[in-house]
Amino acid sequence: MRTIHFTLNGEKASAEIATHHTIVEMLRDRFDLFGARESCAQGLCGCCTVLVDGRAVSGCLYLAAFADGAEVVTVEHLAVTMLNHELRPFLSKWHPRLREFEKAHPDGQESAWPDNIACRGELRHAQVHLVGFALGFARLAGVREAEAAIAPASQPAV
Ligand code: FES
Repeated sequence: MRTIHFTLNGEKASAEIATHHTIVEMLRDRFDLFGARESCAQGLCGCCTVLVDGRAVSGCLYLAAFADGAEVVTVEHLAVTMLNHELRPFLSKWHPRLREFEKAHPDGQESAWPDNIACRGELRHAQVHLVGFALGFARLAGVREAEAAIAPASQPAV
């Protein structure tokens, strides 16, 4: 057994592991993270993918010991952070206001909404922030050349 130290989903972490433990076993058994799970155990299906220093690895084959000193990100972190820190604040701020406007002006155009410009400005800001999450999800899903596929969305029309 040995102790490794790393960053897990943005927090400092350490774990005592055996040299044969995979990163998926460590995440499951030491941190109760089940988003990456073993299925084929041969590096073929992608169910076990985690990001290590920004690179997608097959967690069923990747030894936990290799994560020593690395930055590890799991799908749970991407999903929860994206929802709680990007989408929820935007939606909880603007959705009630837009809904109120729509109720008061059932035939009104959204462009007539007094908050339209401010809302769109914050939407563009949120879209730029979401690119990092989209790239993370794409890497976990095995999308090739994710940057090329996603980058155009990071430049929203003004
Ligand atoms: S469990 Fe299928 S690739 Fe790891």
